[in-house]
Amino acid sequence: MTLQIGIIGTGWFSKVHADIITRMEGVRVASVCGTTLEKAEAMASVYDAAGYEQLEHMLDGEKLDAVYVCVPPMSHGSIEAELIKRGIPFLVEKPLSTGMDIPLHIVEQVQQSRLLTSVGYHFRYQEAVQVMKQAMQEQKVGMALGRWMGGMPGVSWWRRQEGSGGQFVEQTTHIVDLLRFCAGEVTEVYAVAAQRSMHEKHEHVTVADVANVTLKLESGAIASIANTCLLPDGEGGAGLQFYTDAGVWDWTPERLLVPDAASHPMAGLEVAEGPNPYERENEAFIHALRTGDRSRILSDYADACRTQEITTAAQASVESGLPVKLQSSSHVAR
Ligand SMILES: NC(=O)c1ccc[n+]([C@@H]2O[C@H](COP(=O)([O-])OP(=O)(O)OC[C@H]3O[C@@H](n4cnc5c(N)ncnc54)[C@H](O)[C@@H]3O)[C@@H](O)[C@H]2O)c1
Repeated sequence: MTLQIGIIGTGWFSKVHADIITRMEGVRVASVCGTTLEKAEAMASVYDAAGYEQLEHMLDGEKLDAVYVCVPPMSHGSIEAELIKRGIPFLVEKPLSTGMDIPLHIVEQVQQSRLLTSVGYHFRYQEAVQVMKQAMQEQKVGMALGRWMGGMPGVSWWRRQEGSGGQFVEQTTHIVDLLRFCAGEVTEVYAVAAQRSMHEKHEHVTVADVANVTLKLESGAIASIANTCLLPDGEGGAGLQFYTDAGVWDWTPERLLVPDAASHPMAGLEVAEGPNPYERENEAFIHALRTGDRSRILSDYADACRTQEITTAAQASVESGLPVKLQSSSHVAR
């Protein structure tokens, strides 16, 4: 039986997912919901699907096996609530929201209903990340240094604090998520941020363009993650380094460098990123839909909530000037 998928959002990432789904056996994009019927129908026509302007109309009009939610951070909340009400599994793109209120409300309903969910932390599906995670579990991490350095995305919602939640919440969340995935939970954050230049160059920019966040981990390790969006296009880069007594494990989205001194089969070598992690993320979700086996899903809504708690705590720390202790274990079940 062909699985019928609905997509919400008609932007860049909706199309990335729709293309992957279309290449898979026994799955099709059945419908697309956008902010206007025109945008929805324009995207839907590419996939021989139906376009809708209202989510409720799409869910009434189609029998969907799952929905992909690919909207900007400020648009989450009522979409997920409607899907949960109707018992429709969903894959939602990161971040879960601009803040923590909506994710806390949604996660409670997800956990009560045991609905199948997946969140777009695709780096978790990289082979190089799997190698790094395994290695970090076998040795003592002293500290980690992470970064997401680049230019400012062109879409207007990204530049507004209330639209995106800021760079740390919107982009650098990937690095925070990898830190947790490989080295365990974070207990405290302290953050500083500033607007240095982008608000002078472009109109309506309210997000900070530089930030540095210090994190304490449950294990006793410490971490520092910096980001900027003031660089010219093509400069900078993202990465995460783990400092251990066997040397530095140096990950970038393209590869992992294993230190010479590591007692590891890849010591001194480069581990390639491996097969397309977006495809693996989609395969894991579709496999779970077909079989009920969720074991291949590496980030579900409850887990992503804990990453969101860290990034939004960093924003709270910027605003208060004080360190913020995290509560995740008390309100999001592990
Ligand atoms: N995992 C990744 O690597 C990755 C990469 C890119 C984007 N993303 C995430 O995907 C999300 C979307 O990013 P994008 O680049 O596609 O943005 P985009 O601006 O290109 O597209 C967003 C789309 O959502 C639509 N939209 C907004 N509110 C809506 C609503 N209530 N109902 C229906 N449609 C709505 C907009 O009209 C637009 O078509 C963001 O959260 C982003 O962080 C993830």
